[in-house]
Amino acid sequence: MSLEAHNISIAFGGLKVLKDVSVAVQPGVITGLVGPNGAGKTTLFNCLTGVAQPQQGVVRLDGEDISVYPLYRRIQLGVSRTFQTPRLDLDASVLDAVMMGFYSRNKPSLFGAAVSLPSRRRLERQLRAQAERLILQFELTADPYQRSGALSLGRLRLLEVARAIASSPKYLLLDEPAAGVDEHDRALLAKAIRRAAGDEIGVLLVEHNVGFIAELSDHMVAMVRGEIVAAGKPHDVVRDEQVVTAYLGGHRVAA
Ligand SMILES: Nc1ncnc2c1ncn2[C@@H]1O[C@H](COP(=O)(O)OP(=O)(O)O)[C@@H](O)[C@H]1O
Ligand SMILES: [Mg+2]
Repeated sequence: MSLEAHNISIAFGGLKVLKDVSVAVQPGVITGLVGPNGAGKTTLFNCLTGVAQPQQGVVRLDGEDISVYPLYRRIQLGVSRTFQTPRLDLDASVLDAVMMGFYSRNKPSLFGAAVSLPSRRRLERQLRAQAERLILQFELTADPYQRSGALSLGRLRLLEVARAIASSPKYLLLDEPAAGVDEHDRALLAKAIRRAAGDEIGVLLVEHNVGFIAELSDHMVAMVRGEIVAAGKPHDVVRDEQVVTAYLGGHRVAA
């Protein structure tokens, strides 16, 4: 069981952004992905989730080749993500935004014409209760009916993570979820990520804060200019010479 990129290569114009990149995300494991700006981390997320189509390589989900499946199909199959710049309907209430997570994965089976109105209502009530729990967990707002757009950028990131978790994914891909998030909210985020892994979700996490990601990750991968230069235990990866030079600007960081 895993979400895997196999020998992925992609170029935009003449610029090779990913060169023969392979990564595997395992259930219950937090994999941290680090690399300087422009390394290709977001592009790798895009290839895994169907936002971008690599020129070479294969994406597999629990053994199934999903390379040509579009984003929505991959979400239905259990691959959920957040974006580096949150993509949310700012006019929707916080509650509706989280509920969207449930619907994104379950709509066809649970809300089809075959489901009777009373059971649909019951289901909606259950989902609302779950959404309210997530809102509490992430301390998003005291008022679930508040407009999403009224939240700070940090809270919007947490909202997007809550929505992704609401879809009950098998694999959760988080693109810099802690950027612009204060320390208190970052601790909530770390807890939620650990809880997700505890629920056997496979997590792929991009993060610039090396201390945060090294502490949180079970496994770490470092990319520089479209190539994987190191992979292994966080402790070793943050000390890798190429990683230190390229990513950490030559300063060693304790982890
Ligand atoms: N759609 C695109 N068209 C052209 N260039 C792109 C596109 N997406 C990403 N790039 C380029 O690919 C490189 C890697 O970008 P990205 O994957 O966003 O890196 P990271 O997330 O590691 O900062 C950058 O040089 C970026 O400008
Ligand atoms: Mg990026």
